[in-house]
Amino acid sequence: MINGNLNLAIQRKGRLSDKSLELLKLCSIEIENYAERLAISAKNFPINVLFLRDDDIPEYVRDGVADLGIVGEDVIAEKKIELNVVEKLGFGNCKLMIAYPENHPIVKLEDLNGKRIATSYKNILKNFLIENNIKASIVELSGSVEIAPSLGVADCICDIVSTGTTLMMNKLKPSFSIFESQAVLIANESTTKDEKKMSIIAELQKRIRSILAAKNSKYLMMNIPKSSLEQIIKVLPALKSPTILNLADPDMLAVHVVIPTDKFWSMIDDLKKYGASGILLLPIENMII
Ligand code: PRP
Ligand code: ZN
Repeated sequence: MINGNLNLAIQRKGRLSDKSLELLKLCSIEIENYAERLAISAKNFPINVLFLRDDDIPEYVRDGVADLGIVGEDVIAEKKIELNVVEKLGFGNCKLMIAYPENHPIVKLEDLNGKRIATSYKNILKNFLIENNIKASIVELSGSVEIAPSLGVADCICDIVSTGTTLMMNKLKPSFSIFESQAVLIANESTTKDEKKMSIIAELQKRIRSILAAKNSKYLMMNIPKSSLEQIIKVLPALKSPTILNLADPDMLAVHVVIPTDKFWSMIDDLKKYGASGILLLPIENMII
C-alpha cells in the first residue's frame, strides 16, 4: 500500500490478535471492517494494519515490508532477529514451558535426558538444553504441538502457556518454564531513521504510554474529617500531591488522588480508620506523563 502510511503488522488469529486491536482502539485509532481482510487503512491515523501469522512478523519488520509490528518476545527470540523494540506492551504475557502427559510422574530437569521434546521453538529449546547440559532430541513441529505426545511422536512438549487451557484440554501438565514473554511493539531499522515516519511512531508511542500508565492507576475520591487530614495523607502513596477540596460541611474535606491500582486494598482499612467515607475508585482512560 503506497499511501504514505506506516504499515503495522499484527497477529491475524491467535492470543495477541484481540488485544492488539484493543490497544489500537484505546489509542483512538479506528479500524473498521477488518474481518477476513489482510490489510486495512486506519480511518483517523496514518497507519495500515496488516494481519499476518505472528511467526512471520519479525521477518516482515526486518525486511521493511512492515514498518512496525506487534509480536511476542518469544517469537523474536526464536527467530534470532535483532529488532528495535519500541515499547513493551504489558499484554500477551506467557511462558514457554515443558509439559508432560498428565499421568507422567513428577519430573526433575535432568529427567529430560533422553526424551523426545516436540516444539515449534527449536532455537530457544536448544539453547536451554545446552545451558543445562541436557541431551534430549527435539521434534520440530510447526503447529499443534500439544497433540504430539498422544500421537506417540514425543514424550513431552515445549510450548507457549498462557491461560493453560490448551494444556488442560490435551491432558498435559506444565513442569518448568524456560522463557517468559510479553507482546512488544517493534520497528524496522530504516523506519526509525526516517524523520517523518518517526514522528508518527512517536505519536503512537505517546498514546500507548498514556494507556499503559492509566491501566496501572486509579483515581481515588473520598470525604474525610478535616481533623484527620494529616494521617490520611500519610496513608496515601507519596507519588502525587492530593487535591484537597472544601465541602459544605466545614468539618469535612474531599480528597482526590491518583494511586497505583495495586495499593488500594492495602490502604482501605487505614483510610476508614481515620474516618474516610464515600470512597470511590474510578478507572482512568488516559494519563499523560
Ligand atoms: C500458543 C500455543 C497454544 C496457546 C496456549 O499459540 O501454541 O496454542 O498459545 O495458550 P493457552 O495457555 O491460553 O491455552 P499462539 O497464540 O502463539 O498461536 P500460534 O501457535 O498459532 O502462533
Ligand atoms: Zn505463533
